[in-house]
Amino acid sequence: MPIVAPSLLSANYINLQADCDMLNASEADWYHLDVMDGRFVPNISFGPMIIEFFRKATTKVCDVHLMIEEPEKYAEAFQKAGADILTVHYEACTHLHRNIQQIKGLGMKAGIALNPHTPVSLLKDVLADIDMVCLMSVNPGFGGQAFIPQTLNKIKELRNMIDEKGLKVEIEIDGGVTLANAKSIVDAGANVLVAGNTVFKAPNPTEMISLLKKI
Ligand code: DX5
Ligand code: ZN
Repeated sequence: MPIVAPSLLSANYINLQADCDMLNASEADWYHLDVMDGRFVPNISFGPMIIEFFRKATTKVCDVHLMIEEPEKYAEAFQKAGADILTVHYEACTHLHRNIQQIKGLGMKAGIALNPHTPVSLLKDVLADIDMVCLMSVNPGFGGQAFIPQTLNKIKELRNMIDEKGLKVEIEIDGGVTLANAKSIVDAGANVLVAGNTVFKAPNPTEMISLLKKI
């Protein structure tokens, strides 16, 4: 069964408690929390202060996706806010190995996100040091975009790289995940499904989460 990580970017911010209650009672495994700085991506969302509230509202894993420049400046703040997994973008890190060591040194799991144009082969020398790869299946910045089909080839290539080395690294797919494409994503070798609009715009979000778990 895939890990299902609803993205709170698509939640109802005027009534977050209701969405947290729904997620807590659902089969969702993780909270996916998208942090955007208006520089690395053309949108601004929220930071550690809001994540602290999410942390208090749930016992589920807090999967924090940083779409920000200079993530090293904020890693500790996100750890204090309660992040369990901290993912930084390959494209935002000049000293990526140092970023990974920092995140792990703070006691969090370390993830690396790749934009759609960034090849998975670039992860060869850090794959053994990380817990997760987040493959962006849309250009980051906004929810509700269409899945980029080339992602399926990237998943297969990454799955081979991980299995060849006998590693245990999660493959998370972020962007445009729907009930229609989830099976092909899991069949290609991914095991974590992020879903924003598919969950929160569904007539019955709890049922949608169950359907994603069952694909
Ligand atoms: C996009 C974010 C995603 C987004 C996914 O920049 O990283 O996590 O919330 O939203 P959907 O599932 O609606 O594409
Ligand atoms: Zn995300």
